[in-house]
Amino acid sequence: MVAKRLDGKVCAAQVESELVERISKCGSLGITPHLAVVIVGDDPASHVYVGSKVRACERLGIKSTHIELPADATEQQVREIIESLNQQNDLHGILVQSPLPSHMDEESLTDMIEPSKDVDGFHPQNLGRLVQGRLDGMLPCTPSGVMRMLSWAGVDTEGKTAVVLGRSRIVGMPQSLLLGAKGVDSTVTVAHSRTKDTRKLCSNADIVIAAVGIPEMVKPDWIKEGAVVVDVGINRVDDSSRERGWRLAGDVHPDVAQKAGWLSPVPGGVGPMTIAMLMENTVRAAELSVSEEEHS
Ligand code: GUN
Repeated sequence: MVAKRLDGKVCAAQVESELVERISKCGSLGITPHLAVVIVGDDPASHVYVGSKVRACERLGIKSTHIELPADATEQQVREIIESLNQQNDLHGILVQSPLPSHMDEESLTDMIEPSKDVDGFHPQNLGRLVQGRLDGMLPCTPSGVMRMLSWAGVDTEGKTAVVLGRSRIVGMPQSLLLGAKGVDSTVTVAHSRTKDTRKLCSNADIVIAAVGIPEMVKPDWIKEGAVVVDVGINRVDDSSRERGWRLAGDVHPDVAQKAGWLSPVPGGVGPMTIAMLMENTVRAAELSVSEEEHS
């Protein structure tokens, strides 16, 4: 079997085209959706991601404010920026790019973001709603992008076995909650670095979501014939045959395409979906700010 492509670029373009009308409706109410992106330090990959987020805003007519701080900035500086962004009435979304330098407490900074502007969906209030099965709040962008891609491909999730590799706050944990939520109805196992025989778990699964950050860890013999495999990994690996000396690799070995029924590519799979969902969350936050004003 050769896997069908879970094409994040095509699906993301569809999500973005659906946003155009909503953004123009905001405009007719005198509102331009506005996202602030805060990045600290000089991690090259993070700068690439932030650049993509800012460009997506430009493409769609969402206003963006890009705030860059050096790696030796203090946590207090970031706190003051978040406080000021929280107060800004014409600003609807705040994103602090992860990872932050190790001298900063990422969780406590996330806790400070006004939940209604938490377009990453990482605030305890938004993650707490997800745990309660309330899916109408701000959902984390990568896992919700994966769900949108599965539904775009017509993947049946009801009663299926799903293995999520990785239990991170950003992807693995919220992903497992979304897959197990009412209406999606998969039976979910979360595997992590202490899990015994991860290969066997995966080889029995109908759906495998790989989000561990280990290049090409998931091999063809881990995967059941025809399974749906989503590769969230985006790793830089040395490659002297490339002029730049590296290439991007997912968490899934490319030969899995010979076994899986569906496989998301890297790049061009989950990455564009994450950005599309961020745009959707930002537009939603702007729309909700209008209805809040009406009620106040
Ligand atoms: N770093 C990697 N993915 C993400 C994300 O979705 N949001 C933020 N803020 N940082 C990230």
